[in-house]
Amino acid sequence: MPRSWAAAVIEDPAARAGAVTAPVRVDRVTRWWEIGGASQGDVYDDRWKRMEARGEWIHGEADLVCWFEPDSVLDAGCGTGRVAIELDRRGLDVVGVDVDKRMLAEARSKAPNVRWILGDLTDVTVAGPGDYATRGFDVVVLAGNVMAFVEIGTEAAVVANLARHLAVGGRIVSGFRLGLTPLTFADYDRFAAAAGLELEHRWTTWDREPYDGGSYAVTVHRRPPAA
Ligand SMILES: C[S@@+](CC[C@H](N)C(=O)[O-])C[C@H]1O[C@@H](n2cnc3c(N)ncnc32)[C@H](O)[C@@H]1O
Repeated sequence: MPRSWAAAVIEDPAARAGAVTAPVRVDRVTRWWEIGGASQGDVYDDRWKRMEARGEWIHGEADLVCWFEPDSVLDAGCGTGRVAIELDRRGLDVVGVDVDKRMLAEARSKAPNVRWILGDLTDVTVAGPGDYATRGFDVVVLAGNVMAFVEIGTEAAVVANLARHLAVGGRIVSGFRLGLTPLTFADYDRFAAAAGLELEHRWTTWDREPYDGGSYAVTVHRRPPAA
């Protein structure tokens, strides 16, 4: 059994910082956890709050998603819900899914009205909201380097599983940095092609700066519209 699937009692990184006194039981030891990002949902949120306080705009991902004028969005690896909550605020039908219970708990506490699902992107099945239940989502968004935090070796399965959640003509929009994982943009495009998706855009930023060949990219793959 891969280590990541084992139910485990591990030391909570927040405990080392004195925030939590006892080990915390978790269902999954994810790379995200190992890297320490999931020390606690509210700790993760603090970073975004500080950026906002400095006057920085923290909803570039939501802006780009809305540029495609979707009705329904699956926020894949939603974490504490930063993107999903903003999309819900803008009136979209949105569902958030994440494998980390504590990140999801934070999301749920901030927006109990949004549908939050505990699941692994490799195999979770999420019905679209309302009328979209049978036709899939207009956009699946992977914000905040999610593709670089999934278990190494599962990337193709994640892309294939998310592709099957797309409506005809729907898009997967993903931003991630190279170097956190062996995954390359060429690999990612290959996995998308194998899942029946076409490369539509690659930009350097969420506000659609042309791709500069650098280590960060925002990529859009599309399930081809019906002929
Ligand atoms: C850097 S956080 C990004 C959170 C959010 N998308 C944002 O931009 O604020 C990465 C998230 O990916 C989630 N994640 C990693 N592997 C996953 C998997 N296999 N299934 C579901 N979520 C996963 C982690 O639990 C974590 O919440």
